[in-house]
Amino acid sequence: MDRSEFAKRRTELMRMMGEDGIAIIPAAPPRRRNRDVFYPYRQSSDFFYLSGFAEPDAVAVLAPGRQHGEYLLFCRERDLAKEVWDGPIVGQERAVSDYRVDDAFPVDDIDDILPGLIEGRRKVFYTMGVEADFDHRVIGWVSQIRERVRSGARAPAEYVSLEHLLHEMRLIKARPEIEIMRRAANISAQAHRHAMMACRPGLHEYEIEAELQAIFRRHGGWPAYPPIVGGGGNSCILHYIENSATLRAGDLLLIDAAVELDCYASDVTRTFPVNGRFSGEQRAVYELVLTAQRAAIAEVRPGNHWNQPHETATGILVDGMLELGLLRGERDSIIEQRDYRRFFMHRTGHYLGMDVHDVGDYRIDGQWRELEPGMALTVEPGLYIAAGSEGVDERWWNIGVRIEDDVVVTREGCEVLSANAPRTIDEIESLMAS
Ligand code: GLY
Ligand code: MN
Ligand code: MN
Repeated sequence: MDRSEFAKRRTELMRMMGEDGIAIIPAAPPRRRNRDVFYPYRQSSDFFYLSGFAEPDAVAVLAPGRQHGEYLLFCRERDLAKEVWDGPIVGQERAVSDYRVDDAFPVDDIDDILPGLIEGRRKVFYTMGVEADFDHRVIGWVSQIRERVRSGARAPAEYVSLEHLLHEMRLIKARPEIEIMRRAANISAQAHRHAMMACRPGLHEYEIEAELQAIFRRHGGWPAYPPIVGGGGNSCILHYIENSATLRAGDLLLIDAAVELDCYASDVTRTFPVNGRFSGEQRAVYELVLTAQRAAIAEVRPGNHWNQPHETATGILVDGMLELGLLRGERDSIIEQRDYRRFFMHRTGHYLGMDVHDVGDYRIDGQWRELEPGMALTVEPGLYIAAGSEGVDERWWNIGVRIEDDVVVTREGCEVLSANAPRTIDEIESLMAS
C-alpha cells in the first residue's frame, strides 16, 4: 500500500484527537509457542493501520501540533550481529526516510523520552486492556509526571480509548484496502476450487488443508485463521480445526479457510460432497442454505440495517426447516424463541478487514447500525444437523452446510469479493467431475 495512505490515516486521527491529546500505539509483542520457538510474527492491526511498519519492539506516538514533528516512532536500533541471524532491522534512519516518520528514537530510550512528550497533554489516547504489560508501562509514564506536579509538571487528566476513533476509521474501507481484500478473496476462492478438484474419498482432511495452504503460500499469504476442514460429522462442529479424519464417500466436506494478505483477511466457506455428487438430503439442505445466503446478500446495501441480512436468512432457513420436517411448530414462535438455533447457531455475518472478525460497532444508541458504502462483511448462513439430533430422521444426520462469502457495501448494493469460489450445486458437481 502506498505510504501516503498511512499518512492520510494519521492526519485524520490527529484531527479528531485534537491538539491536547497524544496517542500511544504499541506494536504486537512476539508470542512464544514453546521454549525458544515463536509463532510467526503478526503485527497488531491498529499499529499497522497507522504505520505500515511490520517490526515488533516498536511504539508509534502521535502528538498533534508538536513543533518538531507530529509522528514519532520508537523502534529497534540497527544491530549487524543480530541482523546476521534475523535479517535486516529498519532502524531510525530508514524509519524517517522510508516510513514518513518525523522523529525516530531507539525503543530502548522510550522510558526517558515518552514522559516528556506526554507532559502538558490533557488526554492520553491509548487502548487499555489489550496488552497488560504495556498497560503498566503507560500507567508508569503517566505516574512519573504526576509525581512531579508539585514541581510544576502538568499531568494528563484522562485516558481515552483509541478504539472508538480508530475503529470507526477502520470500519469504512478505502479503495486501496478494498483492492487488497478483493485480491485476498480471489486467492481464497481459487484455493476452494483447488480443494474441490483435489478431494476424493480416502484422503485425510489435513491433505486437503495442505492443498489450501499451497495456494495461500504460492501467493505470499498465510491463513487468516486456522483452516476448518471437516468431513461428515465434523462438518457440524463449528470450530473444528483438528483436520485429522479420513474423508468418506457419501459425506459432505465443509471447508472454512481463507488467506490473509498484507494484513487483510478474507473468510470463505464452501461445502461439497467428498465424492462429487450430492445425495438427496444433502442437496435439499444445501439448496436451502444457498437460497438463504443469496437473499441475505441481496439485503446488503446502504440504508439497510446491520441485522437485515440475518433476519432474512433466518426467515428462509426456518421456513425450509419446517418444510423438510427438521423443525416442528409455529414459524413466528420459532423465530421469536430462537428455536432455530438447534441447527443454525451462529449469526449470518460479521465485519471483515484487517481482523477476520473486524472492528466497528454493530449498534449505535442501542439500534442496529445502517450499512454504509465501504463496510466489508461476511454473509455466511449455515445449517448443522449433528448425529443424534433428537426428533430428526437419521438420513439428515451429519449434514453440516455453511456457505460464506465476503462482500463490500457499494453505493448501489454490494460487491461479492469471493464470487469466484464455485457455489451452485451444478458448478460444484461439474467441477468435481472434470
Ligand atoms: N472463519 C471464522 C468465521 O467464519 O467467522
Ligand atoms: Mn466468518
Ligand atoms: Mn469463516
